[in-house]
Amino acid sequence: MTGIKTLGQFIIEKQADFSYAKGELSRLLRDIGIAAKIVNREVNKAGLVDILGDAGTVNIQGEGQKKLDVFANTQFISALTSGGECCIVATEEEDDFVPIDSPVSKNAKYIVCIDPLDGSSNIDVNVAVGTIFSIYRRKSVEGMATLADVLQKGTEQVAAGYVIYGSSTMLVYTTGKGVNGFTLDPSIGEFCLSHPNMKVPHDGSIYSINEGNYVHFPMGVKQYIKYAQVHDVASNRPYTSRYIGSMVADIHRNLIKGGIYIYPTTASSPNGKLRLLYECNPMAFIIEQAGGVASDGFRRILEIQPVELHQRTSIFIGSEKMVRMAEEMMVTYAEAEPNHKSA
Ligand code: AHG
Ligand code: MN
Ligand code: MN
Repeated sequence: MTGIKTLGQFIIEKQADFSYAKGELSRLLRDIGIAAKIVNREVNKAGLVDILGDAGTVNIQGEGQKKLDVFANTQFISALTSGGECCIVATEEEDDFVPIDSPVSKNAKYIVCIDPLDGSSNIDVNVAVGTIFSIYRRKSVEGMATLADVLQKGTEQVAAGYVIYGSSTMLVYTTGKGVNGFTLDPSIGEFCLSHPNMKVPHDGSIYSINEGNYVHFPMGVKQYIKYAQVHDVASNRPYTSRYIGSMVADIHRNLIKGGIYIYPTTASSPNGKLRLLYECNPMAFIIEQAGGVASDGFRRILEIQPVELHQRTSIFIGSEKMVRMAEEMMVTYAEAEPNHKSA
């Protein structure tokens, strides 16, 4: 086993960095890793068993749920329930937060916000999907944890990560001391350290946005797209356009290669589409820890005070130089379009 470091070994080694509750946070991360392996197994054989397609149900956001959305949601809640470290799960797939009230979780101190399966529209066509998670410490000290424990700013996250079920399966996470990536070795069933200390390039030449919505974008975004398409050798333009439609996969690629991912406000989604608690905050924490920037166009994502569970926001995330340029354009055109000013 020389040269291989498993996720479990790495977490234990690094737990000296945590300022408190070392063992508990380690166990929580381990539980998430185990659930991810189970979801990975189902994603991989999805075409062989009856797990593709719609579940026939709709979540609170009016989105049709896929069978794998429901399966992944159940797996993560179950792993977090039996692990005993988590007192609340807030998930995309449940209307309200789920209080965990089991004998083993009596003294649980952690809140987990999760998008169990990101990129659901790609499930049926064998394109990469993901899981996104965010971990907070509960603020209240007694009784059952409450909604106020969930509605914390992203700056309060103690850990965040994502899993990408792609051509290989990876788990990438941060506890606020840099970002590390682990690739699942299916032959031993372990996530092994493959991408230590990940850093997003300061500048890049990939832009990722659903350009089909162009007509509904704010002027600042339209200007940025124009800028991205201009020929300019010095700044490596025109940029390359890459859009998978799974936020995890798009941001993972840009983290490695450099780039910007944008999901702005649109005429039909005036607050943006992506959810603050279990999509934007965890990805923002990871990208900042890797040296990048995450903004809603005007302010740092991590500083937005959430007021509701399924709150949405616009997001501009990735290489610092690219995100700052896009922000400049948003500010320049904001006065003319007050409706797009901020989610
Ligand atoms: P989810 O599958 O969890 O609902 O998230 C889908 C999100 C995100 O992953 C992706 O980038 C975006 O929706 C794609 O939206 P469009 O189809 O509107 O581009
Ligand atoms: Mn999602
Ligand atoms: Mn989802």
